[in-house]
Amino acid sequence: MMKVRRFSTAALATVYVAAQIESLMTREAEPVLGLATGSTPINLYRQLVEFHHQGLSFSHVTTINLDEYVGLAADHPQSYRRFMDDHLFSQIDIPLANTFVPNGMAPNLDRECDRYDAIVNAHTIDLQILGIGRNGHIGFNEPDISLKTRTHVIDLTEDTIQANARFFSTEAEVPTRAITMGIQSILQAQSIFLMAFGRDKAWAVKRALSGEVSTEVPASFLQMHPNVTFVLDAEAAVALDDPRTPYPDQENLGSRL
Ligand code: F6R
Repeated sequence: MMKVRRFSTAALATVYVAAQIESLMTREAEPVLGLATGSTPINLYRQLVEFHHQGLSFSHVTTINLDEYVGLAADHPQSYRRFMDDHLFSQIDIPLANTFVPNGMAPNLDRECDRYDAIVNAHTIDLQILGIGRNGHIGFNEPDISLKTRTHVIDLTEDTIQANARFFSTEAEVPTRAITMGIQSILQAQSIFLMAFGRDKAWAVKRALSGEVSTEVPASFLQMHPNVTFVLDAEAAVALDDPRTPYPDQENLGSRL
């Protein structure tokens, strides 16, 4: 059974998740965090930076990020490596050598996927942070007729490209491919906290929790994991009370099915 924690605001939900991380970090000698990028965890990272200012050290922490765009250099303003550096790593005392993000500029992407899988397999992720796409993706495991288990290169769906377009000046600049950890890599974590805020996520949250596993909603695979908590604000939880909540944009089903 997946746990669901509902909060009236995203701010409260964020404090809840930050406290889980803080507790893990003080409990474990060498904690490993699985991290996500995107809008959802930005305030989580801000909160962790605050905790750091209050004396919490990250010197013993390892982080493994879910994904990275193909074709963006580490210092590109929209790369996920840069996102993590800006929002978290540069503001805390984590050794950069302990922070892992796939290399979207690797000359041989298949080899990069193998390298990243070896990193994932060499660690046990104690606590995995996930966001969720409005189409139900986790990491960049997009809705499809089948899902890949391990780290792989994926063609982003039209829906995801459009959702990401807000960060780029033209849609042509938005990357169309990404490297992402696979579903099985994600399910290897000891505990998973999926954060979802806003009405845009309500449909995906509802489908993920629906009691059916479908490759059409990759987040539904989390139902097979023994320790998952969905951390929601009121808006993201709205469909749990109202089964008729539609997909956020009916024109664009965000799926290749
Ligand atoms: C990012 C990631 C994605 C996002 C998802 C939600 O590393 O893996 O699955 O979590 O696209 O993005 P936001 O938070 O921007 O709505």
